[in-house]
Amino acid sequence: MTSKPVFPDRVRPVAEQPLARPGVDRASIGLLVREFYSGVRKDERLGPIFAREITGDWEPHLEKMTDFWCSVILKSGDYHGRPVPAHLKLKDVTEADFSIWLALFSKTASELFTPEIAAVFVERAERIAASLKLAMFFRLGSSASD
Ligand code: HEM
Repeated sequence: MTSKPVFPDRVRPVAEQPLARPGVDRASIGLLVREFYSGVRKDERLGPIFAREITGDWEPHLEKMTDFWCSVILKSGDYHGRPVPAHLKLKDVTEADFSIWLALFSKTASELFTPEIAAVFVERAERIAASLKLAMFFRLGSSASD
C-alpha cells in the first residue's frame, strides 16, 4: 500500500474560500453596497457620523466599499485599504453603533440575496466588526470608565 501524505498541499479555512454562487458578482455586491449606504445615510445615529467624514462625492466611498466586499466575498483582491486606521479616527462611534450597522447590513443583505448567501455576508461582517471593535474599544489595562 502506498502511503499518501495526509495533509493537503494548501490549507485554507472554509470561510476563506471565494463564495461561488450564481448572482453573486460585482454587480450585485455593488447594489448591496449602494442600498446599504443609502440606509446608513438615513439612519439617525449613523447618518451624521458618515456625513461628517464624507462631505463631498459619495461615489469614491461606494466604489471603495464595493472593492472591499468583492475582496471579502469573491476574494477578488480589489481592495487595498486599511480599515482599522480609518475607524480609529472616528472618536464618537460606540459599540452600540456597530449593532445598528450590523442590523442594517443584515436587513439589506436579506432583501437582496437568498438566506444562505445573506448569511455569508453577515457572518463576515460580524467577524470584521468584532476585530474593528477590538481595535477601537479594547485597550489592555483600561477600564470601562476610561
Ligand atoms: C458603527 C460602525 C461603523 C461606522 C460608524 C463606520 C464608519 C466609517 C467611515 C466614516 C468611514 C470612512 C469613509 C471615508 O472617508 O471614505 C469608513 C470606512 C470604511 N469602513 Fe466603516 N464604519 C463602521 C463599521 C464598519 C464595518 C463593520 C466594516 C466591515 C465589515 C467597515 C468597513 C469599512 C471599510 C473597508 C472602510 C474603508 C477604509 C479605507 O480603506 O479607507 N466599517 N467607515
